Amino acid sequence: MKIAVTIAETRAACRAARASGRRLGLVPTMGALHEGHLSLVRAAKAMCDAVAVSIFVNPAQFGPNEDLSRYPRPFERDCQLLEKEGIDILFAPRVEEIYPPGAVSWVLVEGLSEKLDGGSRPGHFRGVTTIVAKLFHIVEPDVAFFGQKDAAQLAVIRRMVADLNFPVQIVACPIVREPDGLAMSSRNAYLDREERVRARVLQRGLQEARKQFLAGERTAAKLISIGKEAFACEPVVRLDYFEIVDPDTLEPIERVSQEALVGVAAFVGKTRLIDNLLLGP
Ligand code: PAJ
Repeated sequence: MKIAVTIAETRAACRAARASGRRLGLVPTMGALHEGHLSLVRAAKAMCDAVAVSIFVNPAQFGPNEDLSRYPRPFERDCQLLEKEGIDILFAPRVEEIYPPGAVSWVLVEGLSEKLDGGSRPGHFRGVTTIVAKLFHIVEPDVAFFGQKDAAQLAVIRRMVADLNFPVQIVACPIVREPDGLAMSSRNAYLDREERVRARVLQRGLQEARKQFLAGERTAAKLISIGKEAFACEPVVRLDYFEIVDPDTLEPIERVSQEALVGVAAFVGKTRLIDNLLLGP
């Protein structure tokens, strides 16, 4: 595994990996890797001839009062995990390499970037699309892998790729969960034992909505209010949003007649967690 910290060496290594028509896959991450990230790496290994992973805690996607400074950075451990998976290139740049002093250019997917997480985290998706666009230019992957866990991020990135003609195929990978249903997240490490138990409510709310959908309920407002009820008995959990939207446009829908994304975000103590599921017709 080649560990590259500069853009120049990453570009050279990625171009060499793509030589003679080989397919290069990219898995962008912020590190603190868990089985969710590793499932993306394994999908990339299965679909591509060479795999690049990036680890970069991207300051541009954190708000001023968010967890940028305390975000976990277990770099040695991450390297060992990636080495074991047999990836080819790890790109782990420093902040100044990505955002040199004076950088003022951004990639913004208008409209979508203000929906769901973008509504409660202003500027978040502008930071995500800017770093992902930069990674696409640096790595030039044929295929890039993202988790369904961040469903709004996936929609925003798909839109950016279509609008800006990036020659990259986007592959979405299913959500990997803990045995009790909690979606794996680097931020789960912030939860104390009590909060860890309370965090199950996100999954419970989603499952309640799904149950009613399977029983025939199609009115989004009813499904939302059933999902929200699960949160009423969890006082340490503060609901941020519980919405049913079109998975591509992230626009709210009134009746679930085609595929719909049920998304939830909540603060468990100080930790903001997200989860979602898709309802099919
Ligand atoms: P990060 O939170 O590290 O996640 C990296 C990738 O792993 C994302 O595509 C995310 O959806 C996926 N992922 C995280 N938890 C998952 C789980 N439980 N199951 C399946 N996939 C999971 O998302 C980011 O980083 C950043 O915004 C990034 C795209 C790297 C841009 O900075």
